[in-house]
Amino acid sequence: MTSIELLADALAAYRAGDRERATELAGQAGRDGSSLADELRTYLAGDGSAPVYDQPSAFTAFIRGGGNVGLYRALSTELAARYDAAKPESLLDLGCGDGLAVVPALEQATHVPARIDLVEPSAALLEGVHERVPAAQCWQATAQEFLARDDLGWDFVQSTFALQSIEPEQRAEVLRTLQQRAGKLVLAEFDVPEFTEGSPEHLRSLVARYERGVAEYGEDASLVAQGFLLPVLLGLVAGHERTNWEHPAATWAEQLETAGFTDVGVEPLADYWWSPAVLITAS
Ligand SMILES: C[S@@+](CC[C@H](N)C(=O)[O-])C[C@H]1O[C@@H](n2cnc3c(N)ncnc32)[C@H](O)[C@@H]1O
Repeated sequence: MTSIELLADALAAYRAGDRERATELAGQAGRDGSSLADELRTYLAGDGSAPVYDQPSAFTAFIRGGGNVGLYRALSTELAARYDAAKPESLLDLGCGDGLAVVPALEQATHVPARIDLVEPSAALLEGVHERVPAAQCWQATAQEFLARDDLGWDFVQSTFALQSIEPEQRAEVLRTLQQRAGKLVLAEFDVPEFTEGSPEHLRSLVARYERGVAEYGEDASLVAQGFLLPVLLGLVAGHERTNWEHPAATWAEQLETAGFTDVGVEPLADYWWSPAVLITAS
């Protein structure tokens, strides 16, 4: 058996609640030279339950390395061009993280909105963002909490790889609210392929893509794998402690149309190990 098959079986065992068998299979795959297998075995030996955005050293190393360097460069450039074209007076970023997309976008843009609201539930990630964008109001809250506080509107609302963190029913409510309160909406997300969850094809595809992802991190591979990539992967596989709900770009577009947006478009943003990144725009 190849390491991809062994690791797909390890994920199937984990999904079925058999952590011991998953560890054993990861050990076998590791003998084939798979870095993902070694990381999975280490991860399964610990308790592995820390929320991925609360102790952010792994996440911040992840987004500042590997294919994320080119991805974020492309993203900030695109956002800056859109601020300059649309000249919004007000800007909202939902789930801004530590500002890796929005801060360089504002620095590159000629037009800077007069009112900027940056919303992020993780205090650890939000810390330091205000210093870098003194003109912004920073709010430690989820998108759901923030939008429920009052009925402000924004000319331009963006959310980069963050709405995937909200499970689809709650997200539908967030999108309905945004439809009434956003001039333009720009989402960055991944155009992920669709599989039957937990099927052998799904698990093999996850293994092949995560192996590529881990391989991009060199010296930081263990930090990034243990603190971010593996909790996300196992959350996807097992369903409990799930941190992400992603979709093909066409499904994101449908969700926006269901929320009442009429002018919905999808544009390629960058190639990426996980799936192609896209910009989804709506008004
Ligand atoms: C993959 S990170 C992206 C961060 C940032 N937008 C970027 O592009 O670097 C996902 C972000 O969504 C945030 N998040 C999680 N749940 C959220 C929610 N309910 N509302 C808003 N943001 C949320 C996380 O804390 C995290 O900062």
